[in-house]
Amino acid sequence: MTQDEMKQAVAQAAIEYVEVGTIIGVGTGSTANFFIDELAKIKGKIDGTVASSVASAERLKGHGIPVYDLNAVDGISVYIDGADESTRNLHLVKGGGGALTREKIVAAVANKFVCIADESKLVDYLGKFPLPIEVIPMARSYVAREIVKLGGEPVLREGFTTDNGNVILDVHNWEIMEPTKLEQQLNNITGVVTNGLFAMRPADILLLGTPDGVTTLK
Ligand code: A5P
Repeated sequence: MTQDEMKQAVAQAAIEYVEVGTIIGVGTGSTANFFIDELAKIKGKIDGTVASSVASAERLKGHGIPVYDLNAVDGISVYIDGADESTRNLHLVKGGGGALTREKIVAAVANKFVCIADESKLVDYLGKFPLPIEVIPMARSYVAREIVKLGGEPVLREGFTTDNGNVILDVHNWEIMEPTKLEQQLNNITGVVTNGLFAMRPADILLLGTPDGVTTLK
């Protein structure tokens, strides 16, 4: 099975978690795109979606799936999204596509977070994938210095602006052994909007694509 076939398989498997007559949170990235295409096949069964990025909203609308502002809905039954890394505890690194802030907001609101990923994303500990941090532009240098004090090596994502008008620092060379603690430490740096650690609110379920089929981790 190719990597894309594994992504396709987990996207199909995620449809089982879609609750009829509710609002679905939809993530960002290539795996989430496979899910959007699957969701289109059953679009009549849901009330609509909240998207974690402009790109996903456009793809959903292209399929004729209603997309709502988060402030216009009462709640989200389930949030389906990919990840850049996941441990077996379902702690995640996200934000490779730069949509981490909206992703974290939608995950916070959702009753259930189902992560979909191919097996390359499963890791023993987080940090090999550079950890994205969304930063208010004027605080960029200050935040970078604070991250260096915490042992990371921040690199500005050149030529990239988030959907919220901010910049991203990708932090290299971190072996993240205490993701919840680091998530809180990063949140406490003034000027940080969001960091890409999803440990305080991890996924509830990970659908992992393998050559033998889809494995479910809870
Ligand atoms: C987007 O900002 C990320 O959090 C994505 O969920 C992540 O990069 C996974 O993307 P792929 O499904 O393309 O690997």
